[in-house]
Amino acid sequence: MTEDRSEGPPVSDLEEVRRVWNANASFWDTRMGEGNDFHRKLLLPWLERLLAPRPGERILDIACGNGQLSRWLAGKGAQVTAVDLSERMIEFAKARTPQDVPIDYRVVDASDEAALRALGDSYYDAAVCNMALMDMPDPRPLGQALPRLLRPHGRFVMSVTHPCFNQADMTKVARENEEGGTLREYVGVEIRNYLTPRKVRGLAMIGQPEPQPYFERPLSLLLGALLGPSLMLDALEEPSFIPEPGAVSQFWFSWSRFSDIPPALIARFHRSV
Ligand SMILES: C[S@@+](CC[C@H](N)C(=O)[O-])C[C@H]1O[C@@H](n2cnc3c(N)ncnc32)[C@H](O)[C@@H]1O
Repeated sequence: MTEDRSEGPPVSDLEEVRRVWNANASFWDTRMGEGNDFHRKLLLPWLERLLAPRPGERILDIACGNGQLSRWLAGKGAQVTAVDLSERMIEFAKARTPQDVPIDYRVVDASDEAALRALGDSYYDAAVCNMALMDMPDPRPLGQALPRLLRPHGRFVMSVTHPCFNQADMTKVARENEEGGTLREYVGVEIRNYLTPRKVRGLAMIGQPEPQPYFERPLSLLLGALLGPSLMLDALEEPSFIPEPGAVSQFWFSWSRFSDIPPALIARFHRSV
């Protein structure tokens, strides 16, 4: 993530998010396709394990982007409803989805509790929000709506860029130390700010047309926005890239070189009552 803290025009945060994702939708759709390395290698194995989608289940994909995860879920036999704030993203999602894959795509703001609640009452076996909560100015309405959307004991899985290690006020570093007469090279991260919630602008993909707003918040605020007596946390994972023999990235600061630092956080919750 790179950053640009210049002030944008005086529009609401939500309108800025919508405008920028509409502007980046074509680029995103081309680059993401049916899943990039970050998605397929890092996230998907854990999403599959935690979400465990079963044929016939009703699953809600929140902030679905170009629908790549929605189509994967449909491929597992789930009945998928997929929503996104960006009209352009939904257009690309529909265009990529074969006619015989019955995904119900809709333009919905996931920070509008009433709009979410209109999607169903105790209706979904599971919901997922993949790599999008850090794009939302306020995740609390989603936390309020989820226990009503899910059937009792229904599950919700979310992934985000790791708030501790993969955020705007982080710098990747490479160091060389002499230890007992031997030179040792290593990579790591330096964190400058963490606790203070803040809006920054950065890039999810190098070359994207416009920097996008990110809403950085510490773990306590992120999880606190979702947790409550009706939505309980039951799994937490911090995946990192596993080094592949003979396949070291040519880029010094590729996440694939940071095998002991997780760039993402994945959590599962369930409706308790
Ligand atoms: C990083 S993309 C992830 C897309 C998709 N989940 C995936 O895994 O490929 C983030 C998506 O969140 C959507 N988004 C941001 N804020 C949203 C909101 N308030 N409601 C619904 N979607 C939102 C954006 O339009 C964008 O499509």
